[in-house]
Amino acid sequence: MQEPDFAEFQDRRLASLYDSVSPWGPDGEFYAHLLDPAAHPCVLDFGCGTGNLAIRLAQQGHVVIGLEPAAPMLEIARSKPDAERVSWILGSIEELPGQQVDAIFMTSHVAQFFRTDSSWRELLDVLRGTLRPQGRLIFDIRRRTDPPFPTWPTPENPEEVATRPFGPIQWWHTLLPSDDRLVRYELHYALLAEGVVLHSVNELRFRDEAEVVTDLVSAGFLLHQTYGDFDGTPMSPPSPEMIFIAGA
Ligand SMILES: C[S@@+](CC[C@H](N)C(=O)[O-])C[C@H]1O[C@@H](n2cnc3c(N)ncnc32)[C@H](O)[C@@H]1O
Repeated sequence: MQEPDFAEFQDRRLASLYDSVSPWGPDGEFYAHLLDPAAHPCVLDFGCGTGNLAIRLAQQGHVVIGLEPAAPMLEIARSKPDAERVSWILGSIEELPGQQVDAIFMTSHVAQFFRTDSSWRELLDVLRGTLRPQGRLIFDIRRRTDPPFPTWPTPENPEEVATRPFGPIQWWHTLLPSDDRLVRYELHYALLAEGVVLHSVNELRFRDEAEVVTDLVSAGFLLHQTYGDFDGTPMSPPSPEMIFIAGA
C-alpha cells in the first residue's frame, strides 16, 4: 500500500510545477474580492502554497501573513514580485498562538489535508482563537462525488501543460484503495523533455456540509454564508464545491 508522501508540495521539482498545473483562476478572483481591507485589514492565508492569493491580497491593501509548512512551496512564494509585502511563516498551527487577524483564508482545499477528526477540530479551535471579534474564516471543501475528482485528467487522457522549468509536461491522476471519506490518489507528472515521470501520493479527507457546520459551531464559529462554486452559485447537492464563510 502506497503511503501519502505529499511530494506535490515537498519535492522541489514538483513544487515548481504547481503554478503551471493549478494557475490563478476563478477561485483566486472569487477570494480576492470577498473582503474589504478597511473592514478586515489583517488576514492570514493558511496553507498559502506558492503565495498567489497572499500576494494579491497584500497588493489590494491587506496586511497579510502567509503560513505554509512545505518549504519548497514557500520558497517559490517568497521569490515572486511583491512577495516582500507579505509576512511569510514556515509552519502550521503551532505558529498561530499569539497571532491575531481579522480573516483567515484556507483555499484550494487546505482543510481536506486535516485528515483525522482530532486534527481538524484542533485546527478549528486554534483558528477560532486567532480571529479577532467580527473576524471571518473562509475555506473550501470538495463535495464527495463518484469518482472523487471527475474533472482531473486520467492515464487515458493526460493533460499537457507548458511549464517554465521543464517545458511541456503531461499530468494525470490514478485512484488508490480508499474509503468514502478518505480518498488516496497518485498524481503523475511526465517531464517530456527529460523522459522522467515524477509521482506524488496524496490523501484528502471529505466531509459533508452538516458535519462541517456542526464542527464550526462546536469550535465557537457562526456560519455566515455558503457558496457552491466560485461564480457565487448557492451551495446545494450538485454543486462541486462547498465554500464556507464563518464568523468569530
Ligand atoms: C492544494 S495546495 C493550496 C495552496 C494555496 N492555498 C492555493 O490556494 O493555491 C494545499 C496546501 O496546503 C498545505 N498544507 C498541507 N497540510 C497543511 C497543514 N497541516 N497546515 C498548513 N498547510 C498545510 C500544503 O503544503 C499546500 O501548500
